[in-house]
Amino acid sequence: MNTSPPSVARRRLVGAIAQFAALLPVATVWRPAQGAPLAATPQCGRDAPTAAQTEGPYFKPRSPGRTSLLEAGIDGVRLLLQGQVLTTSCKPVAGALLDLWHADAEGRYDNEGFRLRGHVFTDAQGRYRMETVLPGMYPGRTRHIHVKAQPPGGRMLTTQLYFPNEPGNRRDGLFDPRLLVALDRSAATPQATFDFVLREP
Ligand SMILES: [Fe+2]
Repeated sequence: MNTSPPSVARRRLVGAIAQFAALLPVATVWRPAQGAPLAATPQCGRDAPTAAQTEGPYFKPRSPGRTSLLEAGIDGVRLLLQGQVLTTSCKPVAGALLDLWHADAEGRYDNEGFRLRGHVFTDAQGRYRMETVLPGMYPGRTRHIHVKAQPPGGRMLTTQLYFPNEPGNRRDGLFDPRLLVALDRSAATPQATFDFVLREP
């Protein structure tokens, strides 16, 4: 007969569960965190444009205009990147250019052609959408998407977007939490939302 008080028995049970959980293998397949709070997207109206970041070594000019980077032979978790381009005073920027490039699921860039490279323009409400796959990681870098954003006739912003709850974020010296997308995994295709805030032209 177990004579332990209920609180002691419960503590023992919790301890046993924690020990068991520690023995479980770490998942190697990316899955968005269950029930994790969504990261806040940058706010306009506070004179705080989206932070700039280095272009890195893999930018290629003259990417194709398209709303989907998916094509034959591209594997990985599908992702819809979407959001708005706004000025610091919260006005939508129509016709803004967003040029994106990122590594494939294995962390490789296509430096010969234009796989996983493309650009879109925002609509009348400043909105954009780009269908792609979740970028893979490569040595020294956490998951990220490179972006160049430019209002019509205005200055180009070069930056990078990051994903929440990625262990690699803590190890990447370029990671900036202000550049986290808000990730919604409830849809069939996970949706990453990020609003770019650009200086007034
Ligand atoms: Fe990169």
